Amino acid sequence: MNKGFMVVFDGSNGAGKTTVIKSVEKYLISKGLDVLLTREPGGTPIGEKIRDVILDPKTPEMSFMTELMLFGAGRAQHIQEKIIPALSAGKIVISDRFDAATFSFQHFARGIDLETIIKINDLALNGFSPNMNIILDLDPAEGLKRVQSRGEGLDRLEDEKADFLIRARNGYLKQAEQSPDKFEVIDASQSKEKVLEDVIQVIDALLDSLLDKRL
Ligand SMILES: Nc1ncnc2c1ncn2[C@@H]1O[C@H](COP(=O)(O)OP(=O)(O)OP(=O)(O)O)[C@@H](O)[C@H]1O
Ligand SMILES: [Mg+2]
Repeated sequence: MNKGFMVVFDGSNGAGKTTVIKSVEKYLISKGLDVLLTREPGGTPIGEKIRDVILDPKTPEMSFMTELMLFGAGRAQHIQEKIIPALSAGKIVISDRFDAATFSFQHFARGIDLETIIKINDLALNGFSPNMNIILDLDPAEGLKRVQSRGEGLDRLEDEKADFLIRARNGYLKQAEQSPDKFEVIDASQSKEKVLEDVIQVIDALLDSLLDKRL
């Protein structure tokens, strides 16, 4: 039985995930909670190597199925090596992206059939599921501007065409519609301060509901 819980921040590239996660970490620590930050692809030494392979802009030839299975391989390692032990130790795990991104990018944007995605994802998850996905919703064109203003190059998945990124965004919104208990959508076009305020409202409600269940 896990004592901790897991929240995922997800959404379009450049929506502000990394920015808001840093503030959320500070907020939870100020409440005396034990927090573990992690990310996908990545999160473990093996996962970070897989991340480099997945995101390498020098290999645009990667097949969609290779990409899907690499995400699955990294996720299996991530859960077993890092997430489950942290949750068992009572930590709050915050992940910068997780399996909702696979549905958005590999199914809704790339067009791999849902059954295949579910098959690979189920193998990776092995019955595990995060408690909540907070989707930072932003027009991908706006997100791209933000990423470019960071002054770093684009990775293989950021360097996709506009319609691909729009399908991925809509994929997040569809998942949120289908699983309202597991998803919250936040308007990420707002100021950083307002986005954080909205996110903290969701986190506080989650903390309250989990506390209620355990009493
Ligand atoms: N609400 C906001 N309004 C305006 N700019 C923002 C907002 N949130 C973040 N930014 C800025 O946009 C850029 C991208 O933010 P950040 O790196 O947090 O996004 P991300 O979702 O983690 O991106 P990626 O998908 O590339 O990891 C940063 O320069 C950040 O300071
Ligand atoms: Mg980021």
